[in-house]
Amino acid sequence: MIKKRRVFSGTRPTGHLHLGNYFGAIKGYLKLQDEKNLDCIYAIVDLHGVTSPYNPKTYPKEVTDLVLDYLACGLDPKKSHLIIQSHLPQHLELAYYLSTIYPVSRLEQLPTYKEKKLEQPKYINLGLLYYPILMAADILIYKAELVPVGKDQLPHLELTREVARMFNNYFGKTFPEPQAFLTSGSYVPSLTGEGKMSKTNENSYISLIDDLDTIKKKLAKVPTDLGHGNKVPQQGGINALLTLVELFMGKLKREQYEKQYLTTGIKYQPLKNELAQYIYNYLKPIQAKRAYYQKHPQLIKEIIENGERYALGIVQKTLLEVKRKMGFR
Ligand code: TYM
Repeated sequence: MIKKRRVFSGTRPTGHLHLGNYFGAIKGYLKLQDEKNLDCIYAIVDLHGVTSPYNPKTYPKEVTDLVLDYLACGLDPKKSHLIIQSHLPQHLELAYYLSTIYPVSRLEQLPTYKEKKLEQPKYINLGLLYYPILMAADILIYKAELVPVGKDQLPHLELTREVARMFNNYFGKTFPEPQAFLTSGSYVPSLTGEGKMSKTNENSYISLIDDLDTIKKKLAKVPTDLGHGNKVPQQGGINALLTLVELFMGKLKREQYEKQYLTTGIKYQPLKNELAQYIYNYLKPIQAKRAYYQKHPQLIKEIIENGERYALGIVQKTLLEVKRKMGFR
């Protein structure tokens, strides 16, 4: 039997998935689960979620919401294993071992850490600094070779490879060096025209559960210009709109609008209305599937239990190997 290559990825339960998560990560999860020679494990990374301010009372619901979103998007429990990170504390144990071989100074230099410090100046906890080590452990504990993520996660992937190399050098070959798997939508810009689409700003994202009216209202707020000029903007609100046009209506449509911008000019109102309808038509079946799973909590429970049973065998084996190599047994 051919040994399947392993795939691992995860998302934080910070509310419903948005279009950035969907195109940057979930599309990759879906593509890879269809490959016969790959073995996919996808997680709700709830331990990472608590490094930013959160509400412990509503947290269990956020976790369930993300499981529902995953399934609604088409993650198929027959093809992928779904797990909740905190149910497998072995991730934390491996993270501790890995933390003993990685310099603090390098963690402090990571762009993602610096951004978070600016984003949540009153919540700069040790978990934030430790975040990439736990992420490396998530990946390495499964000896994953492929990690579908958006572009913003590339520094974390680079660090994971470095940790793997360091561990292998100190204690003997143990971990593969995982590669990122990027989709064509690996960077979805924010609707505000600044930075990437993200949950931190209400006006930045379209959620997978938004209805047509909400999508229209959100697109209406995207900052635009007069609609023509001698260079199509590569940044800002217009770029955000054109990126969404390309993702939902195709590359050709984007090119048509770009041509209009340089010649007769774009009328943003009809563009936004047409785009809103395309987005909603795309999301409708996802929302219907979500409603189905929502009515079947027992099914969700079984899917997670099965995924975690499978994952447990792997994480226990890796930990034993790591502990032996590090001299604990
Ligand atoms: P998180 O929860 O911030 O985001 C989940 C996934 O969505 C992608 N993403 C985007 N892609 C394109 N455009 C955007 N605007 C956009 N916003 C988010 C992210 O790149 C990510 O793939 N650190 C990870 C979670 C994690 C993880 C792991 C990932 C923990 N352990 C192990 C992979 C493997 C994170 O914060 O993702």
